[in-house]
Amino acid sequence: MARCSATLPPACHVTPVSELCRGSLAVSSLNHLTIAVSDVTRSLGFYRDLLGCREHARWDEGAYLSAGDLWLCLSRDEPSPARDYTHVAFTVRAPDIDAWRARLVQASVPLWKENRSEGASVYCLDPDGHQLELHVGGLNTRLASLERQPYAGLRMPPRPRAPFEGVLPGQLRLLLVAGSVRRTSVNRAFMHRLADQPVPGVAVERFDAFDRLPCFSPDEVSEPALGHLRHEPELGRWLAAVRGADAVLFACPEYAGGLPGAFKNGLDHLVGSEAFIDKPFVLYNLAPRAHHAQQQLELILSTMSGRPLREAFRTLDVGAQAGSPDASWPDPDTAAAMASSIERIRDACAASGPP
Ligand SMILES: Cc1cc2nc3c(=O)[nH]c(=O)nc-3n(C[C@H](O)[C@H](O)[C@H](O)COP(=O)(O)O)c2cc1C
Repeated sequence: MARCSATLPPACHVTPVSELCRGSLAVSSLNHLTIAVSDVTRSLGFYRDLLGCREHARWDEGAYLSAGDLWLCLSRDEPSPARDYTHVAFTVRAPDIDAWRARLVQASVPLWKENRSEGASVYCLDPDGHQLELHVGGLNTRLASLERQPYAGLRMPPRPRAPFEGVLPGQLRLLLVAGSVRRTSVNRAFMHRLADQPVPGVAVERFDAFDRLPCFSPDEVSEPALGHLRHEPELGRWLAAVRGADAVLFACPEYAGGLPGAFKNGLDHLVGSEAFIDKPFVLYNLAPRAHHAQQQLELILSTMSGRPLREAFRTLDVGAQAGSPDASWPDPDTAAAMASSIERIRDACAASGPP
């Protein structure tokens, strides 16, 4: 603390961080990590051959490597490794943690700490004594664990509004899902316009942020939706929206005779949760020429134990209309087709009771 106050300007000249964060001025992610090393070749061997980082360039005084998305730089210097708790943690897969420990021990790499916190870890030193950690999990799993077992004095910002929060009992909770992430997507525009037209007794939520979901892997721990809601907001919103819906209405384009990959990734996330089991679903096809994607989607959603409400499926030739802000929308035929579809969904959900 004393060191900080000696180097910082007087407090009145410092813009409070809270003020900076209110605007758009915020760092986005770790850009690169530079580690001072005494012997570039030796450290390159450690980070590349032992830890599996990828080498991109090397020169007399340094090297560029990568670990996943992380740009790692080794730079020759006289290292003075931290002797406090400062350390660099790399992500490893859960099934590999024992193999990592064995590999490091076999290579006589010193271990500097035993793990005592949530998520498996192996703590080792690099050739210059820099403190490293190989860790399973991420901020989401750590924060979810804090909600179960809070640290002393824990404070966390309030949880964002949950999908369908505040919806009155008896209202049909309908989730509108557009399977395209294209900025000017017709399917997305259609769902926007549908959501903007209130239907008495129907509460709608929309989801189309499939480009902001992490890549699904069965190896990753699947936390309950509310844990995700705070820490991986879009994944949390997706799982919670599906879980909270009485029925899900999909409109998805056809890509190369199948489903868009980002959308399929979103569906794979549902397979790992119970959110879609016995969930009534409806498909709208906004491109009558395309039928492969619709057939595949019905098969996939049924395989995921969803319940097709085929009587409410619609093929609507409205692509251009829905995408154009000037068009009078919907035309009477489309309006009637959608109204009858929503009635069928309401009937089916009323007949089967609450989910
Ligand atoms: C990568 C790609 C592949 C496509 N493949 C097909 C296809 O196999 N069959 C088809 O009828 N349309 C295909 N299309 C056309 C899209 O289905 C059409 O542009 C649709 O309107 C896109 O939906 P969106 O406006 O919601 O993004 C493809 C488009 C893209 C970008």
